[in-house]
Amino acid sequence: MLAANAPNAEITTLTLHPDELVSYETELGDDISAVNAAKQVSAFASFLYEGTAEAERINQLFGDSKAFDHTPYKGKMDLVFVDGSHAQSYVGSDSKKALEMVKPGGVIVWDDYRGPRRAKDVFSVLNNLSKEIELVRIANISFVAHRAPK
Ligand SMILES: C[S@@+](CC[C@H](N)C(=O)[O-])C[C@H]1O[C@@H](n2cnc3c(N)ncnc32)[C@H](O)[C@@H]1O
Repeated sequence: MLAANAPNAEITTLTLHPDELVSYETELGDDISAVNAAKQVSAFASFLYEGTAEAERINQLFGDSKAFDHTPYKGKMDLVFVDGSHAQSYVGSDSKKALEMVKPGGVIVWDDYRGPRRAKDVFSVLNNLSKEIELVRIANISFVAHRAPK
């Protein structure tokens, strides 16, 4: 979707390969339903964009996001879309890396800000983060966004 709607963009995307589920690191305080859901949706190693014109602008990475070395991307990304595991420790770790990867003036978007019952760890982590940085909720959708200072 991103590649199709941003025809000049190069996209790097990370997902957990179904053969790498053992590398998933649950921590104390993680919502167990979010942990189970993250593992369940990590069932794909092929994607809808394969064979499309967009595919050549998509760099598909596999791995656990906590183990992901984001160093090469620091301060370079125009847009970071956070939509991985919804367990607390992952939302925290992914958000920290997103804040380090986004370039000055760039934007981070989180999916699944759905209130205290659905994806409750996303709700609590983002509520806490909003005490430190400016976050805006996009109306009528489950997105929250942050623009990095220039
Ligand atoms: C809700 S899906 C969203 C995928 C994508 N944003 C989309 O809309 O198609 C969550 C994705 O996060 C991945 N994921 C879950 N836990 C992960 C982890 N620990 N490290 C990296 N990716 C993870 C899953 O494999 C899945 O692809």
